[in-house]
Amino acid sequence: MSDNNRVIIFDTTLRDGEQSPGCSMNLEEKLRIAHILDEMGVDVIEAGFPVASPGDFESVNEIAKTVKNATVAGLCRAVKADIEAAGEAIKPAVRRRIHTFISTSPLHMKYKLQMDPETVVEKITESVTLARQFTDDVEWSAEDGSRTEDDFLCRCVETAIKAGATTINIPDTVGYAIPADFAARIRMLIERVPNIDKAIISTHCHNDLGLAVANSLAGIQAGARQVECTINGIGERAGNAALEEIVMALRTRYDAMPFTTGIDTTKIMKASRTLSAITGFTVQPNKAIVGANAFAHESGIHQDGVLKHAETYEIMTPESVGLTKSELVLGKHSGRHAFKDKLREMGYGDLPENAFQDAFRRFKKLADRKKEIFDDDIVALVDDEVVRTQERIRFEGLQVQAGTSGPQTAALTLIVDGARRQAWVEGNGPVDAIFKAIREIVPHPDAKLAVYQVHAVTGGTDAQAEVTVKLAENGKTVLGQGADPDTLVASCRAYVHALNKLLVKREKAAPDEGP
Ligand code: KIV
Ligand code: ZN
Repeated sequence: MSDNNRVIIFDTTLRDGEQSPGCSMNLEEKLRIAHILDEMGVDVIEAGFPVASPGDFESVNEIAKTVKNATVAGLCRAVKADIEAAGEAIKPAVRRRIHTFISTSPLHMKYKLQMDPETVVEKITESVTLARQFTDDVEWSAEDGSRTEDDFLCRCVETAIKAGATTINIPDTVGYAIPADFAARIRMLIERVPNIDKAIISTHCHNDLGLAVANSLAGIQAGARQVECTINGIGERAGNAALEEIVMALRTRYDAMPFTTGIDTTKIMKASRTLSAITGFTVQPNKAIVGANAFAHESGIHQDGVLKHAETYEIMTPESVGLTKSELVLGKHSGRHAFKDKLREMGYGDLPENAFQDAFRRFKKLADRKKEIFDDDIVALVDDEVVRTQERIRFEGLQVQAGTSGPQTAALTLIVDGARRQAWVEGNGPVDAIFKAIREIVPHPDAKLAVYQVHAVTGGTDAQAEVTVKLAENGKTVLGQGADPDTLVASCRAYVHALNKLLVKREKAAPDEGP
């Protein structure tokens, strides 16, 4: 296989994904995702849009400082201040890219930019030339490229390459393309743009018609060697092309699409689950590759076939995406050493000693109740623990009375700034009673419960429940997560987690986490 068949994976989860409603993340969360992307072998991480806000600038800058292998990209319009902000934000990165874009379709130029085509061409030269002063790695995008006239697109691409762009991205901004047309557009550029051999062509497909992955693959087959995508396909409107689907399609159908990527596919599940735990955006159960049912065989005929020979109904192994078949990893007899080894093996490295001891205690408690501890249980438990180290309010104990005869009550104990506080409250159902008890102990009258979601992290009736709570206060929102085999305890943990974040946000007047 020649290098010519290596496809660059450009992940925009932290930019195009993060800017979509409900997906915003705080700095610490973005750093966690960036770390996972780097670890899984993503080639380029688009870390954000630095000029958009001081918070965006800071996160791109911090990601640039910490990412070890991937190129860190900052997005900017064809505007001097944007390009300067992006150049400054990515400065600490080992490998850095500026990604500058401008619309090229008749519709966008007339109504959005209110610029004539000549001015757009001038802006391309100016913006790419300026970007090259900050880095040799400059990507230029033709926004709404799939609805741009061929002749003008060729002219713009040639201009961008002449000014120094090394990657040319053709976005299907509105998700309008169909695979045959999109492939033809890429081939047309390769045939007609005289200096196209000096740049790598990239795709950036949105999923409005459910064709983002199909269009991206068609683009690769036509000659594109970079794809822009996001974990779980999050992104504007119907989302972007899903990284895991593109990577696994290339890997599984290498016979028909002989292209490779640098992705360690066994990290896919961890990336997917961490992102949904952070954003509260759950993955639909039948979603390709990462959905809970993607490797579940429900019908008797299928189960029988898989047991006799897995390939009868499985085109990929669960292990290849990080679902270990030998899922049983630890039990109640496992000690600190085994737990530490497991954390290392799962990519958590060494937790700070206090966090490790707390996580181990919680693991032991979990192992007492749940016979088998799976990788997913550990992800839920440790991710929870890492956040927990900064808490002012700590959950200590909960007794709930539920059922038909009523009243439903919650007796709750929290540690608030080191002091034990208790409440006994009646509610309209057990969850209402728990949340009221929290409000009684730590009053926060201006905060409203915006989202309450329960989902099982692992299979079986003793699965860990994972709960997401979103609180909104004076236009600011925070997301909390809690995991526990007991759904009510998980609900309480999630609320307390969100409340802790709200307290931090109040103190620091931190930037908003989303709508
Ligand atoms: O969809 C789009 O056109 C974009 C560009 C900024 C690359 O996200
Ligand atoms: Zn986009």
